[in-house]
Amino acid sequence: MNPLSISNAPRSLGRSSLRSSPLAYGCWRFAGTDVATARAKVEAALELGVTLFDHADIYGYGDDTQFGDAEALFGEVLAEAPELRDRMVIASKCGIIIGVPYDSSAAWITQAAEDSLRRLQVDVIDLYQIHRPDFLGHPAEIAEALTRLRSEGKIREVGVSNYSPSQVRALQAHLSFPIATVQPEFSCWRHHALRDGVLDQCLELQMTPLAWSPLGGGVIGLSPEEAEGRPDGARLASMLRVLDRIADEQGVSRTAVAMAWTMVHPAGVIPIIGTQRVERIQQCMDALKVEFTRTQWNEILVAAQGEPLP
Ligand SMILES: NC(=O)c1ccc[n+]([C@@H]2O[C@H](COP(=O)([O-])OP(=O)(O)OC[C@H]3O[C@@H](n4cnc5c(N)ncnc54)[C@H](OP(=O)(O)O)[C@@H]3O)[C@@H](O)[C@H]2O)c1
Repeated sequence: MNPLSISNAPRSLGRSSLRSSPLAYGCWRFAGTDVATARAKVEAALELGVTLFDHADIYGYGDDTQFGDAEALFGEVLAEAPELRDRMVIASKCGIIIGVPYDSSAAWITQAAEDSLRRLQVDVIDLYQIHRPDFLGHPAEIAEALTRLRSEGKIREVGVSNYSPSQVRALQAHLSFPIATVQPEFSCWRHHALRDGVLDQCLELQMTPLAWSPLGGGVIGLSPEEAEGRPDGARLASMLRVLDRIADEQGVSRTAVAMAWTMVHPAGVIPIIGTQRVERIQQCMDALKVEFTRTQWNEILVAAQGEPLP
């Protein structure tokens, strides 16, 4: 049986002409440093071959930082080193407002895109995503706002995040161009996208899945002993031990194996790297070296779900 390997070649985002590296860099945790530190992370990611940078207007919202801070810091990096812009695909999102919490009205989408362009200090956002479904947002109105932004040259392509397959279909029905990407949570620990139709729909409609929190937001970085202290600890620790065994066999880190697990799915998943430590970006990129047998991939899934496959 042939092993499942991962191509390091750039890939198209959906049916669009945008091309991305096989892993992306996420800016959720990016705010809160000086510009030099931020620039070092962006340059390290680019040097390691990452070209897609995933933002949202809300990133930065936290104890010491605020809505918009991640984009603003990234914009300061680009202002200092404008030559970096041509080497990257910039993605951002709108639609979450603290306290509302979702607004996908045309007025908000339009204003949010303008605000992101200003903070990022760019003329165009390559991939503009609706961050979460707004049950009060009519897909025709969302489509109209996105279409206008696209025809004005303010965004290039459109994606959605945390949408169900039926929500994707409803929006796609009102767009005259294809949705390029979806962004579900997806990791070997949080693998519901395998069965809720999200990845199947990517295969059906040729959309690219961008996987958020591919290390489970950090739980895949815990030691098995730390994991055992959690309510779901026995199952988590068991999965971590399987990841560690495969990582040892392949001479890479557990991080690389976990990233690779998401990437061998035939939908062509692009995991979004979340670490803010430069030295860990390389560990994530080592996913490209991993080769799974089907048995190994399934063994990780079985350990994660705590029950055998039927
Ligand atoms: N669309 C959405 O709703 C949504 C939601 C969440 C995230 N996202 C996107 O997904 C991106 C990634 O999410 P995430 O930050 O949760 O990703 P993740 O890779 O699952 O988790 C990253 C976190 O794990 C920690 N970590 C612990 N051990 C690690 C190790 N060995 N290697 C790497 N990281 C380790 C990191 O800490 P250190 O920094 O100390 O390494 C960091 O805090 C975000 O930046 C954002 O672009 C989207």
